[in-house]
Amino acid sequence: MEKRVITFGTFDLFHVGHLRILERAATLGSHLIVGVSSDALNFSKKGRNPIYPENERMEIVKSLRCVNEVFLEESLELKGEYIKTYRADVLTMGHDWEGRFDGFRSLCEVVYFPRTQGISTTDIIAQVKTYE
Ligand code: CTP
Repeated sequence: MEKRVITFGTFDLFHVGHLRILERAATLGSHLIVGVSSDALNFSKKGRNPIYPENERMEIVKSLRCVNEVFLEESLELKGEYIKTYRADVLTMGHDWEGRFDGFRSLCEVVYFPRTQGISTTDIIAQVKTYE
C-alpha cells in the first residue's frame, strides 16, 4: 500500500543538507510530498525574501528523484490542513523542530531527522558576503 510522507521547508540556495533530509524523508514511505514555503511566509518570519523565488525553489525540489509532489506552503498555521489535504501518513522534519510538531501525532506519524552538520542557507549567505 502507498505510504505518503510530507515535509516542509524553504530550500533556498539548495544545498546537500536539503538533499539528505529529502532522501531520508523518502525512505519513510513510497510517496514524498514537499511543502515549499512561500516568499511571503519567509518574509513574515525573517523580514527578507529568500534569494531564489518560490517558483524556482519549487522547480528545483520537484526535479529531485526522491520527491513526488510539491506544493506552496502559504501559512505555518495550516500544517494540519496540509497533512489532511495531502493524506499524509507521516510528517517528517529536521531536528531543529524536535517536539514542535508532536501535536500532529493524532493525524499521522511524526518523525524528526538529524540535520547535516556544518551547512545552512544562512551560513552560505554569510560566507558569500565575505568574498570580494
Ligand atoms: N536541513 C538539514 N540539514 C541542514 C540544513 C537544513 O537537515 N544542514 C533540513 C531542515 O531541518 C529542514 C529542511 O532541511 O527540514 C529545510 O530547511 P531550511 O530551513 O529550508 O534550510 P536551512 O539551510 O536550515 O535554512 P536557514 O539557514 O535559512 O534556516
